[in-house]
Amino acid sequence: ISCGIVIVAAGRGERAGSPKDGPKQYRAIGGRPVLCATLDIFTLWAKATRIVVVIHPDDAALFENALRLSLPNDTIVVTHGHATRQQSVLAGLRKLGDAGISHVLIHDAVRPFIDADMLDRIADELQSGAEAVLPAVAVADTLKRGDAGGHVTETVSRAGLYGAQTPQAFRFQPILAAHTAAESTGRADFTDDAAIAEWAGLPVRLVAGSPDNMKLTTQRDIAMADEKLNRTAL
Ligand code: C5P
Repeated sequence: ISCGIVIVAAGRGERAGSPKDGPKQYRAIGGRPVLCATLDIFTLWAKATRIVVVIHPDDAALFENALRLSLPNDTIVVTHGHATRQQSVLAGLRKLGDAGISHVLIHDAVRPFIDADMLDRIADELQSGAEAVLPAVAVADTLKRGDAGGHVTETVSRAGLYGAQTPQAFRFQPILAAHTAAESTGRADFTDDAAIAEWAGLPVRLVAGSPDNMKLTTQRDIAMADEKLNRTAL
């Protein structure tokens, strides 16, 4: 198998704090932008043959800076994203083209703590013929449904429930077709690519994600990630 990689980094990161701090994929953890750590993992992974990074047009200078601070990789290309994550992914898939690529891994730039073991687990499933592979972690907390007034209305069974992570991996042509079909129906609100595969009727295989593979969403997440990397460096 040969894997193209799409890294979506075109979000504005409004949830991470005030806009002056900039999008979270460019905030510093361990002395470098988040995106550098994410890129380096794929640069070091032998099965990644081409990497497309999807950025916001306003972030060209931030992206160039991140590239300069990442491991050298002459397979990285860049394209512009759109208003929703789903649209940004489709732009990345189109940029990837199908030049010799059998599969694609689609990853959020804001998850810098992926590890090579997880990538290998995902690749093994693709190798065995899976159409779509989703790394996920079983939900550990007891789940409650609450009402608008702040009262618990129900305890929800967590049996069989998982938190979805990225990178999510697919055979290239079927996921490109599914994304294209989703776009043509006018839907732009799918929050992950496995959901598009499910919608298109592709079987999605679960593999063990990693508890370390956190999504950096808030200012607090960035601070924790920074502390983690600084601790590891000691
Ligand atoms: O918004 P959300 O937390 O789902 O973002 C997940 C990833 O998708 C982030 O890496 C973000 O940069 C990216 N994204 C994007 N284009 C958008 C929205 C999000 O590339 N319009």
